[in-house]
Amino acid sequence: MNPKKHAAEKAVEFIEDGMVVGLGTGSTAYWAIQKIAQRIQEGLRIRAVASSRDSEELANKLGIPIVPFSEIEWIDITIDGADEVDTHLNLIKGGGGALVREKILAINSKRFFVIVDESKQVEHLGQFPLPVEIVPFAANLTMNQLKELGCSTRIRMSNDEAYFTDNGNIIVDCNFEKIVKPIELNKQINLIPGVVDNGLFTRMVSSLVIGYNDGSTRIIDQH
Ligand code: A5P
Repeated sequence: MNPKKHAAEKAVEFIEDGMVVGLGTGSTAYWAIQKIAQRIQEGLRIRAVASSRDSEELANKLGIPIVPFSEIEWIDITIDGADEVDTHLNLIKGGGGALVREKILAINSKRFFVIVDESKQVEHLGQFPLPVEIVPFAANLTMNQLKELGCSTRIRMSNDEAYFTDNGNIIVDCNFEKIVKPIELNKQINLIPGVVDNGLFTRMVSSLVIGYNDGSTRIIDQH
């Protein structure tokens, strides 16, 4: 049993003919992309946009029609994973480094479905270090500003070098341990010059789909 796959496949049931679909990034979104490709082979007609080069490549490989953003006005449904989800459906995202593009897709979607296995549910966000995308210029000074908000910081690395996002920026993983006021923190972080965006997704989720080890799923809708 793969709870990520179950959650993903449940969410894909909500896609209908003619929709513009946002493709998420990560190991859970992977299963959604696979299922969408299967439904397309069975006759589903959609247009898709992707939240990362990786997801776009996967979609291309599987025959999912990706359209340029200039061809769409909105997205009907985006399906994406999360690193943590709290009891108010606030999220930490960006473990895979795609948080900026993911947030652009989410905010421009009529419905934003988040798919997780049950291990991602937490009472308070923050155990998972919060990814913050910053421009590389004067990164040490921007990190000092982030530390002022009460976290320890670490530049994300990949093979002994700084990890670069699809946007040409770097990621600072900020360890707050416990985030009590995610809405306020999201605003405070994004006011720091040099910050592009951060992985707090607050008040954005339409529906959370949780996959369990026994193969069952549960959907929680935002009220
Ligand atoms: C990608 O940048 C992330 O936001 C992912 O959506 C998130 O890290 C969840 O990833 P998994 O589905 O691989 O756990």
